Amino acid sequence: MMPETSFVGKHRISLPETSSTNNYAAELLKENPPDGTLIQTFNQTKGRGQQGNIWVSPPGKNLTFSLIFYPEFLDIKEVFSLSKVISVALCQMLETYLPWENIQIKWPNDILINQKKTAGILIENQLEGSSIKASIIGIGLNVNQTKFPAEFEHRSTSMEKAGRREFDLEKVLMDALSSVENAYLKLKDGDSHYINRMYYQYLYGYQEDIKVIIQGKSEIVSIAGVEKSGKLIIRMNDSLHYLGFKELTFVL
Ligand code: BTN
Repeated sequence: MMPETSFVGKHRISLPETSSTNNYAAELLKENPPDGTLIQTFNQTKGRGQQGNIWVSPPGKNLTFSLIFYPEFLDIKEVFSLSKVISVALCQMLETYLPWENIQIKWPNDILINQKKTAGILIENQLEGSSIKASIIGIGLNVNQTKFPAEFEHRSTSMEKAGRREFDLEKVLMDALSSVENAYLKLKDGDSHYINRMYYQYLYGYQEDIKVIIQGKSEIVSIAGVEKSGKLIIRMNDSLHYLGFKELTFVL
């Protein structure tokens, strides 16, 4: 039986093909679609990733979708909580399918299986004063893709590659939505402790030594936390440092 959600994905737009579900969602926002609206396609032709990167997904193999939320309860300073919610939700969903694999979050927006990227999250917010009027949550999840372009092969994976079997795309989508709803409602209900606890449980490098590159130099650091704003707090040479998105590269 498919899990039920109360609002996430209840209003669903399935497109045979679209350039980017995030772009479609941005257009749709002008018509005030319901909270939790889902825009989904199995053929995204011009997917966008973080920092101007592209997101390529072969037709019919993976999930590419966007959700529209109105998180008016969140102050702009806490904007990264949404990323935490979605990351935790995807990890929890993946763990039900792949309980023996190592599922982790790579700050700021990647989900790893056995240290290889299997999902990326692109969150785009519309602001009003100091609150978030609307948020478009774009998710690309590699499900049944087994071949990757040579330059990505060593750092990309999918549920099928890890689980050595095909997965039902529609079922994975429904489970992802249900997991997102569960985590989102926890945040909305004020239980950010739960989200943080789960987030750190999955966070790659949390309180353990990892190799990273900072300002072109290879360093051994450990992650001490992630601020509400999204800044990464690392411990390096016995002192704490606060880093923005582009200031560190993980060596996996
Ligand atoms: C990243 O890892 O850089 C983020 C990738 C986000 C990709 C998803 S696929 C659905 C949605 N539509 C887009 O154009 N991008 C996001």
